[in-house]
Amino acid sequence: MKILGIESSCDECAASVVEDGRRILSNIVLSQVDFHKPWYGVVPEIASRKHIEWIRPVVQDALAEAGVSAKELDAIAVTFRPGLIGSLLVGLSFAKGLAWALGKPLVGVDHILAHLYAPHLEQEISYPYLGVLVSGGHTIIARVERSDSIEVLGTTIDDACGEAFDKVAKFYEIGFPGGVAIDKLARTGDSRAFQFPKPSLHKGDALYDVSYSGLKTAVIHQSAQFWDGKSEKSLPNIAASFQRAAIDILVDRALAAARDTGLRTIVAGGGVAANSYLRERMAAEKGLKVIFPSLKLCTDNAAMVAGIGYHAFMAGKLSSFSLNAEARVPMFKRAYP
Ligand code: KG4
Ligand code: ZN
Repeated sequence: MKILGIESSCDECAASVVEDGRRILSNIVLSQVDFHKPWYGVVPEIASRKHIEWIRPVVQDALAEAGVSAKELDAIAVTFRPGLIGSLLVGLSFAKGLAWALGKPLVGVDHILAHLYAPHLEQEISYPYLGVLVSGGHTIIARVERSDSIEVLGTTIDDACGEAFDKVAKFYEIGFPGGVAIDKLARTGDSRAFQFPKPSLHKGDALYDVSYSGLKTAVIHQSAQFWDGKSEKSLPNIAASFQRAAIDILVDRALAAARDTGLRTIVAGGGVAANSYLRERMAAEKGLKVIFPSLKLCTDNAAMVAGIGYHAFMAGKLSSFSLNAEARVPMFKRAYP
């Protein structure tokens, strides 16, 4: 079965053809980074306009690289939530038009579940496991039962982890995307120079929740208060210390969830899963199997959409042409979606 995946939820315009949910025949990702860089963040209006320009050539490239004609496709899978509404609508409308014109089934895909599926494109992973999804919009620690069913154990009560990286990078004008820039700068810094605060909200039913707004405020507005008094107050030191705190907050809760649930496999996904310190820390954990997707499959891509779309297609979970884009999803601690 050959599925075309289309992804346009944020600032990556992507299309991919995947066979049988596993074999990537093509994976085209056009990044809009250069257009958003001057603002140190994604400008929604620019993002939608670029998607409109790029969506057709990106899909054409994906088909050409895969050596598959549109007629040979078995279905068209597309991200319909969550994300920037204008951006989502471009991919979704294009997918609907294509599916309609070709008489092919349409499969709406959830971006969060697609991120968690990404490492399945590269290796056999058995369910259930502990999923740790960290991106610019989401921070989720979940028990993953199947590709389409997760139980959210913990989430952020305010900012997403990647968002904190992006906001700190924006304030200090370190670069864009913030996570990539901080990861790079942190390599030359001392991560002990500042002892930034880590929240403790692990009470009641918030056992695996995290929070990033306090850390963000401390790094941006109160860094002097957390300085060790002897190291240099330099940008690399701030970046390294922030990164250590942000990742430690996450790893601490993920390990607690793994311990309490007895799940011995942790699968990470999302843009922040590309972080080198996170990878290093998790690799050092004894007695746990920790799986990270390759860097290209951490950040937004359409192979994960086509991959998970295959399983929905095989299960007969097709979408109607009235499927609409959704900016957000309710993120309570309960079965998701
Ligand atoms: O998954 P993604 O491409 O898009 C969303 O679904 O949000 O994730 C983008 C996020 C951004 O916040 C970006 O700063 C962060 O992932 N990111 C990183 C790294 N690479 C990307 N954060 C930390 N370290 C990295 N190496
Ligand atoms: Zn994403």
